[in-house]
Amino acid sequence: MPVNVILGLQWGDEGKGKIVDYYSRDAELILRATGGNNAGHTVVIDKTTYKLHLVPSGLFENNKVGILGNGTVLDLAVLCKELNDLKQRNNGSVVFVSGKAHVIMPWHKHFDVSTETKSGDKKIGTTGRGIGPAYESKANRSTAIRIYDLTTKERFAKRVTEVFQLLKPRLQETAFDKSVESILSEMEPLRLQIAPLVIDSVAFVQPFIEQNKLILVEGAQGALLDFDHGTFPFVTSSNPTIGGIFTGTGVSHKHVKQVIGVTKAYCTRVGAGPFPTKLVDADGEYLQVNGNEFGTTTGRKRDCGWIDLVALRYACQLNGVTEIALTKLDVLSGLKTIKAAVAYKLPNGETTSVFPEDTTVLSSVEPIYRDFPGWSEKLEPNFEMLPNNAKEFIRTIEKYTSTPITLISTGPERKQTITR
Ligand code: GDP
Ligand code: IMO
Ligand code: MG
Repeated sequence: MPVNVILGLQWGDEGKGKIVDYYSRDAELILRATGGNNAGHTVVIDKTTYKLHLVPSGLFENNKVGILGNGTVLDLAVLCKELNDLKQRNNGSVVFVSGKAHVIMPWHKHFDVSTETKSGDKKIGTTGRGIGPAYESKANRSTAIRIYDLTTKERFAKRVTEVFQLLKPRLQETAFDKSVESILSEMEPLRLQIAPLVIDSVAFVQPFIEQNKLILVEGAQGALLDFDHGTFPFVTSSNPTIGGIFTGTGVSHKHVKQVIGVTKAYCTRVGAGPFPTKLVDADGEYLQVNGNEFGTTTGRKRDCGWIDLVALRYACQLNGVTEIALTKLDVLSGLKTIKAAVAYKLPNGETTSVFPEDTTVLSSVEPIYRDFPGWSEKLEPNFEMLPNNAKEFIRTIEKYTSTPITLISTGPERKQTITR
């Protein structure tokens, strides 16, 4: 059995949690590779909603193993809470943590929410969870704290004290009001809970690969939030695209069989940055309300707009997507006309179907739309029985992206899923 990767093709919140849960039945291991608790992944099972920020979404079935890979940044309090919730479910599923993952410290959150995460005078609109500052520490190395540093009380205290000393000027300047002693005593119960779960995740995964067990990798965020390939600087600080999956887990590319890209049947974005197909009219309102588009992590209203096939094709190309999971098709039901952006008009009047990599250019494009007649019939759980107009919409996305749509989601529940 291979490694299958599930990742977001838009600006996050595509429904990755639901899709990971759907495919988890046949999997033994489910890995998170990147990001931290900026992610909010939702799973709905028999009308009960579960919101997960760190623990993988594929652990609702019995006896699954979850791993938080080396590419993640971990808020220990959030992780311990989710581990306790998992324990309560009492289904034999467990989580281990890569020793090479990094710790989000209280000052990282403080830096993120104090005036720092901006580009010039523009706010990025981060989730305020300390993600950017934690990756900044990882990159500079001198202020990084790894999960391996939690191994003993002495090692952790030594490392935290060293880093605190180094950061002192910045902490004072930004009026950070906690002492090393208070941080260490607050974090001690968390350290004790996490320390026994620390593994060498690269070595841990190998027997699963050798024994041909199915491994899922659960992407976080989405291609357009990628640190390198997204709408920089309005991005997250990790690589949610396929490269980040490899560096963030240590799993080799040669074992990957399917790269399942998840996209909504429309677009949403939470936080600042360009969004060519954003709607500020009644249709946008319809998508927001009907799709219940509020951020899973911060509760912010998500901006909504039509599906953007220029951006989607770019995301498929970037990730080598082998198949698409199309979610929230039900949200479009009842609209008289549905649109899809098929090209952009550039400020100089030219037309392009290539996603502009310069965010300044992207901010000034005008989408060129193709119109589709809508549908109001119930969405039956079978592709052939879907309304013809819905099938036409789906086939156009496949054609434009040169990628088959093998899963269609028509509601948040597991059973509201059509596979082809
Ligand atoms: P993720 O971050 O990609 O895991 O997505 P989120 O969980 O943040 O947001 C997706 C939201 O859409 C959640 O509330 C899901 O329960 C919901 N959802 C997923 N698939 C569908 C679907 O096909 N239809 C509807 N109506 N809701 C869905
Ligand atoms: P999931 O995994 C949607 C956005 C934030 C902000 C930008 C940078 O649920 O799809 P950060 O806190 O990461 O520095 O914020 O990225 N963002 C997300 N938007 N879904 C997410 O994750 C996101 N994670 C970060 O809103 O615009
Ligand atoms: Mg989300």
